[in-house]
Amino acid sequence: MSYIEKIEESVKYIKNRISIKPEIGLVLGSGLGDLAEKIKDSIILKYKDIPNFPESTVEGHKGQLIVGTLGDKQVIAMQGRFHYYEGYTLKEITFPIRCMIGLGIDNLIVTNAAGGVNSTFKPGDLMIIKDHINFTGNNPLIGENLDEKGPRFVDMTFAYNKDLMDIAIRSGKNLNIDLKTGIYMCFTGPTYETPAEVRMANVMGADAVGMSTVPEVIVANHEGIKVLGISCITNMASGILNKPLNHEEVVETSMKVKNEFENLIIDIIKN
Ligand code: 6GU
Repeated sequence: MSYIEKIEESVKYIKNRISIKPEIGLVLGSGLGDLAEKIKDSIILKYKDIPNFPESTVEGHKGQLIVGTLGDKQVIAMQGRFHYYEGYTLKEITFPIRCMIGLGIDNLIVTNAAGGVNSTFKPGDLMIIKDHINFTGNNPLIGENLDEKGPRFVDMTFAYNKDLMDIAIRSGKNLNIDLKTGIYMCFTGPTYETPAEVRMANVMGADAVGMSTVPEVIVANHEGIKVLGISCITNMASGILNKPLNHEEVVETSMKVKNEFENLIIDIIKN
């Protein structure tokens, strides 16, 4: 079966089990998946039951799609995503994005946990992604172009939609959240960066570093879907503070900002 046929098969499977047409896709990052529980009249589809879906391996990442109503809009959320460091190809990682687009979404909100490189940031800050640096050394669009989905050479000038950023910033003001904006740099992981790598990221213009999001955003742009990206700065990147990093801190901080994060996303979706 071709990649396109696989997408079509998965889309058909999902369509047959839902009664709405989602207009917004949501990718919920590390520790941010609980937002999915706020989705009303939800239908849950486990990744392992959807034909052609990869299976998620990381702890703290649930592997399911949740379809329903959030902020009065029809949404489809990925609770748990696939990462390059798990050993998947970028085509596997972005397969669910192709499916969500196949189901009819025209806006995609991607979220993640990230390390703060900008020294004015602090753990718990939320950052609107205004641009990214793909530092994975790979690209999900390498190989034969899917001409029916989008062009061979994809313009990334407005990879993160300006109108959606403005809506997010307005929501932040409404909710009294001190939102940051910045540039997200994607490393492969699973190691966190060295202090020297973080200094490099800083001189290259990055405000935050992470291990996800960029492949999904590239594929959404390939298909002309509007993207909003939000990073939860769960910890400062290596060498910024004089202490080691650990995954527990990432989980702990995302738990702390959970409410703020959830209110922000719901307000953005309403608008
Ligand atoms: Cl410091 N680096 C990367 N690559 N990902 C992260 C992180 C740091 N903190 C949370 N996620």
